[in-house]
Amino acid sequence: MTEKRTVPIALPATGQEEWQAMRESVMTGWLTQGPKVADFEQAFARRHKVRHALACCNCTAGLHLILTAMGIGPDDEVIVPSFTWISTANAVMYCGAKPVFVDVDRLTYNMDPALVAEKVTDRTRAILPVHLFGLCADVDAIAAAAPGIPIVCDAACASGAAYKEVPAGALGLASAFSFHPRKPITTGEGGMVTTQSDELADKINSLRNHGAGVSEEQRHHGKQPYILPEFNVLGFNYRMTDLQGAVGMAQLAKLDGFIEQRRLWAQFYNEQLAEVPWLQTPVSPEGQDHGWQSYVCYVHEDKSPLSRNAVMERLFTEGISTRPGTHAVHMLGLYRRRLGLREDDYPVSRDCDRFTMALPLHNRMTVEDIEYVLNAIRAI
Ligand SMILES: Cc1ncc(COP(=O)(O)O)c(C=O)c1O
Repeated sequence: MTEKRTVPIALPATGQEEWQAMRESVMTGWLTQGPKVADFEQAFARRHKVRHALACCNCTAGLHLILTAMGIGPDDEVIVPSFTWISTANAVMYCGAKPVFVDVDRLTYNMDPALVAEKVTDRTRAILPVHLFGLCADVDAIAAAAPGIPIVCDAACASGAAYKEVPAGALGLASAFSFHPRKPITTGEGGMVTTQSDELADKINSLRNHGAGVSEEQRHHGKQPYILPEFNVLGFNYRMTDLQGAVGMAQLAKLDGFIEQRRLWAQFYNEQLAEVPWLQTPVSPEGQDHGWQSYVCYVHEDKSPLSRNAVMERLFTEGISTRPGTHAVHMLGLYRRRLGLREDDYPVSRDCDRFTMALPLHNRMTVEDIEYVLNAIRAI
């Protein structure tokens, strides 16, 4: 009999390097956005082959910054997928605009480009696809379905991922990344906006710092100590701390290794689970470099001895954590009530909400952990 293990769904791979980097920041005394954040931004922009990277306090704030800088407001509409984390839609609501949901593809879990054109109205100001679980949305097909409408990406899960050899951060007009502990690299909380547009970067730089004309660092290190910033727009305090910037640098140096390890685990899962007829394993379409933030399967209950929830409970009793992929946002009370939506309006998202299951995938897993998960699934 195999010994019982505990296998968490995710576990950040932080250690000595992050500790030392953060210690250095603490010792210098520069704690808020400063030189470490600037280093992290430059390195992140280089890695993602994009002109600008602007750090902020989380991805949700990053999405809010992008939409605000685009001037999106009341009476505007933004098209978002209905299967995603709630904050993709919330960021649209923060601007007073309306999220218009579009259903997703059952295999990739991403926005279905074939359904986009019918959602476009004369109020549509942007399309906001999500690179869910680290797989980039089909941005070329989305752009072809809605010519001339800017695409901004929720790249929360997609650090290091690429689409047709273009890194996630360089797709569309702008993107926002997350560094929450369940993401490929982490700074505890944290986010990054990327864009090729100088104009958008300038606006976001100011908006994240109360709308100030100059940054704290420029102000403190400038030759004119009497200068206070000018404020011409309503901004926010969405800055990243230098402690996080330092941790981010240490994590970014490991990103490619992390993804390669996750890719190998995902491949191993795929091969071993091919014999389980009731479990649909995740896809990585041709031309995509999947970031493997999560490994999300679909439980076909018509072929399965147990329901999705019963499978999850059974694995839990074996010490294995699983989670539903994410939400069908249109089924959440907030959006159902505000927008008058019904479950069946977006049937694929509804089904993904009910039948998806993320298996443990992280950079501290061992081959014994994976074998343990596989054996528990086979036993079902
Ligand atoms: C698809 C998606 N969008 C946005 C977010 C929000 O990221 P953050 O927690 O950094 O605001 C998440 C995080 O879970 C996410 O998965």
